[in-house]
Amino acid sequence: GAPVEVDVSKLEMGQRVVAEWRGQPVWVVRRTEEMVANLDKLNDQLKDPQSEEDQQPAYAANEWRSIKKEYLVLIGICTHLGCSPLFEEEPTVELEQGGFFCPCHGSKFDLAGRVYQGVPAPTNLVVPPHSYISDAVIIVG
Ligand code: FES
Repeated sequence: GAPVEVDVSKLEMGQRVVAEWRGQPVWVVRRTEEMVANLDKLNDQLKDPQSEEDQQPAYAANEWRSIKKEYLVLIGICTHLGCSPLFEEEPTVELEQGGFFCPCHGSKFDLAGRVYQGVPAPTNLVVPPHSYISDAVIIVG
C-alpha cells in the first residue's frame, strides 16, 4: 500500500486522530507533557517496558516509543486477536494514567502502546514505519 500523509497540525493536546494505512487503522495521539512524564511510572506494571520485542522501528525504540515525544503513532489493532482498543485519554478504573483498553478480552496498553502485565495481549502495540515531512505532517509507510 502507498504511504499515507497525516496532518496533525490541528490535533489538540491529549487528543487522537485516526488514519488508515494498508487497510489498518493508524492512530496519532498528541501527548501532553504530563502524559509523557507519567510513562516511566508504569514500568513495573508492564510486560515489555523497554520495548525489547521488535514492535517498533529502531528510531522509535526509546522510552516514549516515538520520534517526537509529543506524537505517538500506532497501529490501532490489539496484539491479542486483533480487536480495536478504545482510546482512554482520561484515567479510568482500568487505566489510571489513561491509555488504550481492548474491550474484547480486557488487554490494557499505556499511552506509549505498551502492554500491561496480566492481560492476554502478548506484546506492545505496533509502531508503523513513519517520518516527518514538516513539523506536523507525518508520512506513515
Ligand atoms: Fe484485544 Fe483479545 S483482542 S484482548
